[in-house]
Amino acid sequence: MSLLSVRHLTVSFGAVDAVAGISFDLDRGRVLCVVGESGSGKTVAALAVPRLLPAPARITGRVLFDGEDLTAAAERRLRDIRGRRIGVVFQDPASALNPVLRIGDQVDEALRLHDRATTRRQARSRTLALLELVGVTDPQRRAEQYPHQWSGGMRQRALIAIALANDPDLVIADEPTAALDATVQAQVLRVLADARADRGCAVLLITHDLGVVADLADDVVVMYAGRIVEARPASALFTDRQHPYTRTLLDSRPVWAERVERLRSTPGSLPDPRHPPAGCAFHPRCVEADARCAAERPVLLEVAAGHRTACHHRGDR
Ligand SMILES: Nc1ncnc2c1ncn2[C@@H]1O[C@H](COP(=O)(O)OP(=O)(O)OP(=O)(O)O)[C@@H](O)[C@H]1O
Ligand code: SF4
Ligand SMILES: [Mg+2]
Repeated sequence: MSLLSVRHLTVSFGAVDAVAGISFDLDRGRVLCVVGESGSGKTVAALAVPRLLPAPARITGRVLFDGEDLTAAAERRLRDIRGRRIGVVFQDPASALNPVLRIGDQVDEALRLHDRATTRRQARSRTLALLELVGVTDPQRRAEQYPHQWSGGMRQRALIAIALANDPDLVIADEPTAALDATVQAQVLRVLADARADRGCAVLLITHDLGVVADLADDVVVMYAGRIVEARPASALFTDRQHPYTRTLLDSRPVWAERVERLRSTPGSLPDPRHPPAGCAFHPRCVEADARCAAERPVLLEVAAGHRTACHHRGDR
């Protein structure tokens, strides 16, 4: 049984389905990267797992975590699971730390919240080890500082320390390095990779960066307009035939951008979620679209072991 099994997950805000019936599995010790352009539903899907979405969100489907359906769990049970078994690194780090508490106290609290038997002294020694683990130099002095005394990159590391504090089974990290410079980015990602390697935790990682996917991912889920259009092992992502939208993403990598622009461009943007197009949601932008694509939505089907794709032209062109 997978550690995490998401089945037919739909998240609606009023009449809009921000996530529309997605299913995927994540096993222990694996890194699953979720990619897709801005607004495709990555954050909403990831935050629906530990039910961290704001009140108007309506969730249907099932989120089985270690066999337990979190969509049906009581709030109290969820609070226990979050932070202890599921660590979350949010996309917006600014709001995730308390500005009036010292960083060290915040990490201590994350530890003690889930294990009241931990003494302050024990918590602090683990806090310092965690801060060191995420690359904070001079953690003793740094722990006494307030968030505003830490740079954005360092605050992001503090959040990762908090997410990892209780040795979670699953870490959900939403663009954890988007605001960081390249060197810090690599260090922070290394911490996540080590957590996977050393402790066998599973990582659900949202990223815009296909270099990160190439380096870290075992599996990749590509989202478009709230749905999964392709899901496959990362090893074949860059070499084998991809879904037309996946190819667009790969082609838009900066290194290719100039060349691709000369060959073709993919005009347009995500459809308005209030008025999704009929048929395949990608058809207005797809270079391979035909009449069937405009009329009929392709079903996500398994085309090889671990490889699902939603396209009417699976390999026939
Ligand atoms: N609280 C909310 N109320 C209403 N709509 C929302 C809310 N949160 C997200 N949405 C909508 O859900 C859709 C998916 O948003 P989401 O934040 O998941 O995108 P994303 O893929 O994470 O994008 P980005 O790459 O920019 O972070 C968007 O259309 C967004 O406007
Ligand atoms: S179903 Fe048609 S429009 Fe959609 S991705 Fe495939 S070829 Fe393109
Ligand atoms: Mg997001």
